Amino acid sequence: MIRILVLHGPNLNMLGVREQEMYGDQTLQSINAQLMELAQAEGVTLEAKHSNSEGELVSWIQEARGRFDAIVINPAAYTHTSVALRDAILSVTLPTVEVHLSNIHQREEFRQRSYLAGVAIGQISGFGALSYELGVRAAIDHVRKARGKQSG
Ligand code: DQA
Repeated sequence: MIRILVLHGPNLNMLGVREQEMYGDQTLQSINAQLMELAQAEGVTLEAKHSNSEGELVSWIQEARGRFDAIVINPAAYTHTSVALRDAILSVTLPTVEVHLSNIHQREEFRQRSYLAGVAIGQISGFGALSYELGVRAAIDHVRKARGKQSG
């Protein structure tokens, strides 16, 4: 069974209230419910967690080692600042997909740089809540292919 960890960074608990023109009107709870449905349909397990705290996200990434097969993360504002999250991902060597609701490359210059992109297997940015779904699909596909290679 493939196990996917979805991590939501700071202020994403405010989705549905926060800058709706930028991030849409879906709440985090409803995004998570959609991802759970997708996981069920794909026959994988999925756990979704949110934190406003960088240290907590670092700890969860560290704890994912051996418990999950891939991580899908929207690091939110920490995307543009966090060497700690980058190092955490490097340390666990779990395939990680970076997702963003908005297209960070069309926004302010400070948002166009991601500290995580260089250690992620890929980045999905700009499709609203669909970015998460695409991210989870990409993570599942990556793990399936890696397992196929191992057994083949
Ligand atoms: C975001 C983009 C970030 O720049 C911002 O700080 C967020 C959300 C997104 O999903 O588009 O909080 O990660």
